[in-house]
Amino acid sequence: MLEIIDLKKIYPTGTKALDGISLSVDQPQVIAIIGPSGAGKSTLIRCINRLVEPSSGQILLNETDIAHLGRRELRKARRRMGMIFQEYNLVDRLTVMENVLSGRLGYVSFWRAYRRSFPKADVAAAFELLERVGLKGYHNTRADALSGGQRQRVGIARALMQAPDLLLVDEPTASLDPKTSRQIMRLLTELVQERGTPALVNIHDVALAQAFSDKIIGLRDGRVVFEGVSDQVTEAVLTDIYGEEDWSTTIRKVDDAENGTGPDSTEQKNNGILRESASG
Ligand SMILES: Nc1ncnc2c1ncn2[C@@H]1O[C@H](COP(=O)(O)OP(=O)(O)OP(=O)(O)O)[C@@H](O)[C@H]1O
Ligand SMILES: [Mg+2]
Repeated sequence: MLEIIDLKKIYPTGTKALDGISLSVDQPQVIAIIGPSGAGKSTLIRCINRLVEPSSGQILLNETDIAHLGRRELRKARRRMGMIFQEYNLVDRLTVMENVLSGRLGYVSFWRAYRRSFPKADVAAAFELLERVGLKGYHNTRADALSGGQRQRVGIARALMQAPDLLLVDEPTASLDPKTSRQIMRLLTELVQERGTPALVNIHDVALAQAFSDKIIGLRDGRVVFEGVSDQVTEAVLTDIYGEEDWSTTIRKVDDAENGTGPDSTEQKNNGILRESASG
């Protein structure tokens, strides 16, 4: 599906943001990308759809090398990638429906196509997606009247309107409260499975990454320093990625806190740490 080979990015300022990244995604999975501020997470995501121009390397999306496409081909290829952002990037004065339908357009042609009416099939698909992301009945609501969680649901629906081959997600929950963050991550993981579309998700919250990803990639100084599953993220791994710190409270300890079946959750409940009313 996606294969990145020796991707490098040196900004004109001389900053080496990506220093030879190689990774591959061959299943519809959620790949969480963690790493300290400045590690290159956003640069990686933006290089994949070439909002940032890679300096060298290959980005193969279903065999097309995105890194070496001309302008026209790039516009087509970008429609195969759905972007979801921390700040949602909705058009505030447009309705939820208009925002979702804008996902049918390439990034650039939106304003040009704004006055055209959309095909019935697109509108039907948008209604279906709105219902799926939990926003049934909100189609005529203006984007600026929504909560953060609702805005992110619109962002997700808009990205999926493109029927993308890949979702690129940059800190989707950084502006959300813990419970809403979990709901949004859960929705994302479900949609990845339902639609068979893999997602690369930059995320600062390690426990959230552990709870809702199939694979975790750790970046440091533009390099992949860790690749593994949730349970392999130990304190030693976090020290390697982020540096020395007391990581004991950061790592997810409760396997299945939601339905209370995890081995540790009983213990924590007994200790009074995890109360019914506080579980997300
Ligand atoms: N447009 C730019 N011009 C010059 N340097 C940049 C630019 N964008 C990012 N950088 C630098 O590249 C490096 C990687 O930045 P990037 O934004 O990819 O990190 P990040 O892992 O996403 O960080 P954060 O967790 O804070 O979002 C940093 O040193 C940053 O200062
Ligand atoms: Mg970033």
